Amino acid sequence: MKRIVKRLVFIISLLLFLYFWTKKSQQNDFKSFNFSSVIYPSPYDDKTTLIRYFEKTQQLIIDEEKVSIAKNHKIVIANSRSIPDSRFLLLEYTKIFGQEKFCSKSSLDIFSKQCPYQNCDYTCNHSRLNEAQLVLFHKYDVKKEQMPTKRNIDQVWLLWHDEPLFLVSHDFNQYLFNWTTSYIFNSEISFGAYGLTLLRNDNTDIDFEQWINEQYEKRLNQASWFVTNCGAKRRLDYYYRLRQYFPIIVHGTCVDKQNFSSCPRFSSCETDQLKSTKFYLAFESQTCKDYITEKFWRALKYGTIPIALGPLMKQSYERIAPPNSFIYVGDYETPQLLAQHLYEIVKNKNIFRKYHLWRKYYWTGYSAQDNEQYRFCEVCYKLNTVNSHIYYTNIHEFFSDQC
Ligand SMILES: *[C@@H]1O[C@H](CO)[C@@H](O)[C@H](O)[C@H]1NC(C)=O
Ligand SMILES: *[C@@H]1O[C@H](CO)[C@@H](O)[C@H](O)[C@H]1NC(C)=O
Ligand SMILES: *[C@@H]1O[C@H](CO)[C@@H](O)[C@H](O)[C@H]1NC(C)=O
Ligand SMILES: *[C@@H]1O[C@H](CO)[C@@H](O)[C@H](O)[C@H]1NC(C)=O
Repeated sequence: MKRIVKRLVFIISLLLFLYFWTKKSQQNDFKSFNFSSVIYPSPYDDKTTLIRYFEKTQQLIIDEEKVSIAKNHKIVIANSRSIPDSRFLLLEYTKIFGQEKFCSKSSLDIFSKQCPYQNCDYTCNHSRLNEAQLVLFHKYDVKKEQMPTKRNIDQVWLLWHDEPLFLVSHDFNQYLFNWTTSYIFNSEISFGAYGLTLLRNDNTDIDFEQWINEQYEKRLNQASWFVTNCGAKRRLDYYYRLRQYFPIIVHGTCVDKQNFSSCPRFSSCETDQLKSTKFYLAFESQTCKDYITEKFWRALKYGTIPIALGPLMKQSYERIAPPNSFIYVGDYETPQLLAQHLYEIVKNKNIFRKYHLWRKYYWTGYSAQDNEQYRFCEVCYKLNTVNSHIYYTNIHEFFSDQC
């Protein structure tokens, strides 16, 4: 009897030891990553609600917000808005790229089932303008002669704009929009502008180690790139320099017309291409603060490691992209040094694995369908929580600054 007990104690201790040892080595996987500077939680943290994402964003934007205020891009009157204890009505005032966008969708579909606030409604009925707490204007669809002429001071005018720079003059300043929804991190609504990183709440269905082995073997030791806008000189120059040291296969009118016509963007040939190389050049057409587009997120989704060239602050990527998921061009003094690192990755499966480890814990979104419900959830969150009156006195500069 005594012997059995002894044995049991031994086995249980061994199991406990193994359990904690595995747990600890898992945590070491992320040791190099600083979770206080990103919006999403660490995988070892059980607080995964969207409120936590939104609150973290608010902590992280404090300095940028001060800059916007100091430059007179926007005015914030703190502690002046009393938050009504009611449901909120949003009015889609303009069309969205010429179409009615959400008019026939249910609130649950627009604001997402996971949203911590479920008290927002959506309408496209212009007769309800005075009733609406928030009026949505999409930049490209704003027509001067159709703008409302008066507004009550508690109504929020929200401008939706996903492109850097204002292509149309300074006219927009006159409308004194209250909030913006865009890719700029200190827009009132910035979550999921082009993509987002969410902590998985399930264990992934894939066998990660098997996936890594397959991808490492299967994928070519190359980078791929799809490019159509040839005017963007910074990225084109960088490509020409990098390809002297590392093989890059390009589809695009500026570099290789033929490859592009046989393999256009968003075709199945393009996705096959993305699934066949280890790297993707996620080079943005414009260098603007926080302007990180679907190229980057698609590269992650299709299993490549993005080589990121865009915003001048690495932080723009770090705070929204999954941990250790990308290579930032600005970290390397020369294209040659960057290429050296690419060779380190292709030669060493362990380094390759580190760049993909996030996939065990995080999920990324990249399509409008993935992102929009989270964007609108943040709108609803803001209606429920913002206690300042805000308005943009120079929205033109807000979108052109740091470009
Ligand atoms: C993590 O990042 C925050 C904010 O950037 C910084 O204050 C802190 O010192 C960093 N911590 C470590 C351990 O690097
Ligand atoms: C639009 O709203 C007005 C005012 O609430 C209402 O009388 C009208 O029936 C609505 N129109 C439609 C098509 O729902
Ligand atoms: C065009 O595609 C071919 C075949 O896939 C490839 O060998 C070639 O390098 C590509 N051209 C460029 C400029 O990448
Ligand atoms: C919206 O902007 C207007 C125009 O400047 C301002 O008077 C009002 O206080 C703002 N409202 C909110 C809710 O921020």
